[in-house]
Amino acid sequence: MNWHETHALVTGGTRGIGLELVTQLLARGAKVTATGTTDSSLAEARDRLPQVTWLPLNQADSSSRESFIQALPAQGMSLVIHNAGVQQMRDWTSDWTKPQAEVAFDTSSEMAVNFVGPAELTRLLLPRLAREKSARIVFITSGLALAPKSSSPVYCASKAAVRSFAKSLRAQVNQAGWRILIQEALPPLVDTDMTRGRGKGKISAATAASQILTGVAKGRAEIDVGATALLRFILRLSPALGERIMIGR
Ligand SMILES: NC(=O)c1ccc[n+]([C@@H]2O[C@H](COP(=O)([O-])OP(=O)(O)OC[C@H]3O[C@@H](n4cnc5c(N)ncnc54)[C@H](OP(=O)(O)O)[C@@H]3O)[C@@H](O)[C@H]2O)c1
Repeated sequence: MNWHETHALVTGGTRGIGLELVTQLLARGAKVTATGTTDSSLAEARDRLPQVTWLPLNQADSSSRESFIQALPAQGMSLVIHNAGVQQMRDWTSDWTKPQAEVAFDTSSEMAVNFVGPAELTRLLLPRLAREKSARIVFITSGLALAPKSSSPVYCASKAAVRSFAKSLRAQVNQAGWRILIQEALPPLVDTDMTRGRGKGKISAATAASQILTGVAKGRAEIDVGATALLRFILRLSPALGERIMIGR
């Protein structure tokens, strides 16, 4: 893979793993377009990395997705990294007692950001990616797509949904003979705003991004980041043990 000839799009590039992906893509010589949701997150990102084209995108919203796609160049983009995501910690045995207004984020909103957004953006991007000499679409899911934890049921379901979607899409694209590689990266717990104040043994966003980009360059269909490789090994040995380890996390 020639990074110098790569124009990459990274959704959710303003913070966490996305910001590291953007930074490391630039260091490898790629041209980068990236997104954020708010004027302030975009302004901060522009100050930090002015060589990136920063665009607004709320991927849960269909009109925002449409305007975003129209702001992209008609050709030349060959790598799309669906990184943006949100996670709600929700206790379904107690949250139902609260009025809806007190629940920060509902099921459809979380699914809209994590699943509908990447799927619909892919639909809008496929025609132009199919015209490129070769292209890659990378879905950032999670080790939790392999086995869920108890504390964020909708998040785990959304990541499993993206994983399933990526597998079917890969088969369709291959059948069509398109030169688009569909890749999935499965990080373990990473130290970002999303996991602030919880979890042990987190890896840094820089380590996660570096392993993701190495896997992308190698053309791996599934990129196990950090301890996800161990989780996959345990799940192969004993699915019940693997699921038991994960559910309590
Ligand atoms: N952290 C982990 O332990 C971990 C583990 C496995 C997988 N992942 C996955 O890795 C990805 C990045 O996670 P992270 O920990 O780096 O998250 P993060 O630090 O919370 O950053 C989230 C990014 O997504 C953007 N975003 C939020 N809502 C959006 C929306 N509706 N539309 C478009 N963009 C939106 C944010 O933009 P603003 O800055 O404008 O809000 C921000 O750039 C996610 O898909 C996450 O599920 C994370």
